[in-house]
Amino acid sequence: MLFDTHAHYYDEQYQHDLPETISRAIQNGVGYILTASSDIASSVENITLAQKHSIFYAAVGVHPHNAADLNNSIISALADFAENPKVVAIGEIGLDYYYDNSPREAQKIWFAKQISLARNVKLPIIVHDRDAHMDTVNMLKSENAKEVGGVLHCFTGSVEMAKQVLDMGFMISIAGPVTFKNTKKLIEVVKYVPEDMLLVETDSPYLTPEPYRGKRNESAYVKLVAEKVAKIKGRSLDYISEITTSNAKRLFGIK
Ligand code: NI
Repeated sequence: MLFDTHAHYYDEQYQHDLPETISRAIQNGVGYILTASSDIASSVENITLAQKHSIFYAAVGVHPHNAADLNNSIISALADFAENPKVVAIGEIGLDYYYDNSPREAQKIWFAKQISLARNVKLPIIVHDRDAHMDTVNMLKSENAKEVGGVLHCFTGSVEMAKQVLDMGFMISIAGPVTFKNTKKLIEVVKYVPEDMLLVETDSPYLTPEPYRGKRNESAYVKLVAEKVAKIKGRSLDYISEITTSNAKRLFGIK
């Protein structure tokens, strides 16, 4: 059974066919999907989805794109949401220096505050890092995120960065880009990361794996990511499905 550890099912692109999308995921061996949030509205929506569909678990949090809109009352609302039993992580949170939609200083302040939030509510974090590798690692260190734990979602760093975050107990999640034609660095990362620290994800509706690249992504395609990881590791798809799902359940505290 597969665990898609990162998707965004509040997205309007699923409004017309969510039941069919869930059926296709199940047909492709997906047993669990974590739907991650980007702001307060999507956090509310993800909790509703997780309560309605047993396959969904939710992460609540504010994406670095929206860091400039954050304030302390939103943080306390997130803390209240975290009490819901289907909320299993704080995310996605982190730094995005590619788009710079919020000023970097604001991104850093609210990344730190959401790490503290995760510590207070005893949940792991789902970290977004785009073109901010060095500051992400430095902040995880300075905020003592080792105590909190979590995952670097859609990992795009080097083997050296993977080593640094693994040393802090963080897992590494692999997404669709591992299937892309010119991928080299990520394949080295997959080879390097111990099997008990690997997760797979789609980041739906984005980052659709080959051969569907360019179309809308959905959780059924996490199988394509797992197949590529299995090939790199020299393992069967069943083996990789089982170990990545058990890693995710351990991280998110799902029985
Ligand atoms: Ni995402």
